[in-house]
Amino acid sequence: MTERIVLAYSGGLDTSVAIGWIGEATGAEVIAVAVDVGQGGESLETIRQRALGCGAVEAYVADASDEFANEYCMPTLKANALYQGHYPLVSAISRPVIVKHLVKAAREFGATTVAHGCTGKGNDQVRFEVGIQTLGPDLKCIAPVRDLALTRDKAIAFAEEKGLPIETTKKNPYSIDQNVWGRAVETGYLEDIWNAPTKDIYDYTATPEFPPAPDEVTISFEAGVPVAIDGVKVTPLQAIKELNRRAGAQGVGRIDVVEDRLVGIKSREIYEAPGAMALITAHKHLEDITIEREQARFKATVGQRWAELVYDGQWFSPLKRSLDAFIEDTQRYVTGDIRMVLHGGQAIVNGRRSETSLYDFDLATYDTGDTFDQSMARGFIELWGMSAKVASGRDIRVAGK
Ligand code: ARG
Repeated sequence: MTERIVLAYSGGLDTSVAIGWIGEATGAEVIAVAVDVGQGGESLETIRQRALGCGAVEAYVADASDEFANEYCMPTLKANALYQGHYPLVSAISRPVIVKHLVKAAREFGATTVAHGCTGKGNDQVRFEVGIQTLGPDLKCIAPVRDLALTRDKAIAFAEEKGLPIETTKKNPYSIDQNVWGRAVETGYLEDIWNAPTKDIYDYTATPEFPPAPDEVTISFEAGVPVAIDGVKVTPLQAIKELNRRAGAQGVGRIDVVEDRLVGIKSREIYEAPGAMALITAHKHLEDITIEREQARFKATVGQRWAELVYDGQWFSPLKRSLDAFIEDTQRYVTGDIRMVLHGGQAIVNGRRSETSLYDFDLATYDTGDTFDQSMARGFIELWGMSAKVASGRDIRVAGK
């Protein structure tokens, strides 16, 4: 029986050419698998037909947009995950869900190998292959761009020579990856890190310099998950989409960073994640009133480690699973409403309310009715400073010798 290879297919030039390229290099049959993670653009049926037109023996489309929102974006929100303090893990969280569907397709179609279109310099090759090793330890991996010398020029020449049903002329100078959680743009002009991004780079966000009138929005959460916007019930996917639209119109969620890739390279990336950044901001502010101080401080550390693990391709690892359990436990009381104003590139919280809040007006107030006994503070401060005071006494004694 001819060997079969499942290819992660985007519909773009590289993966379209990869279908025939892999076939010629290995003699295997190629099954193209496209996964919908809310990236928009062309219809999936168009993409499916193109894969068949490029020589795939089967082309399979998985609608994973709700699954992606529920099982990948929501955990990222609960963790307030921002890699290096900036990046909401847009591409990093899409790879594990794509892997899941690739492995499923490999089983269904009897494939022995999984292929992806990543280069040998980035994080995504790691995320795909570590994910595949974990979910399908018997499966082999191949990356035609990295392993079969499929360069951009060769891809264009191949497509023209074979008359593949794909555009080869429209040369986009940027490498773009997008899904419902956000959009990532790199390469070309952006590789000079002093160059400011030009307007044409953005798609999910409008220029914040000329914002429309401020947009006030109320987001309701239940156990850390958005369940309503302005009182209208929403699914996680709908919440992200609605805020992509409204926060995007205000230019919220533009991010320009130089980040540390797992392979040791620093690289410049432009992100736009209006819905994700608005949600993370609102969610964090709700946590501020519903999570106890020590738990909150520790959770910030856990969230950072969680972001690093996910960035580094360890989505399916035991440590990530353990951190998920901790984060999930912290979300028990993260229920309530956050009101925020979206305007001029910012999402600013201006009101919060929750039945499970720890904010105690009677303790906090400086007005009459204050229930806080200020006489307790003196003794507390005395003991709180004791250890450092003893040490400082020692320092003076030693210095004086
Ligand atoms: N640097 C980001 C990450 O590793 C995005 C990778 C994909 N970016 C792109 N523009 N193709 O998660």
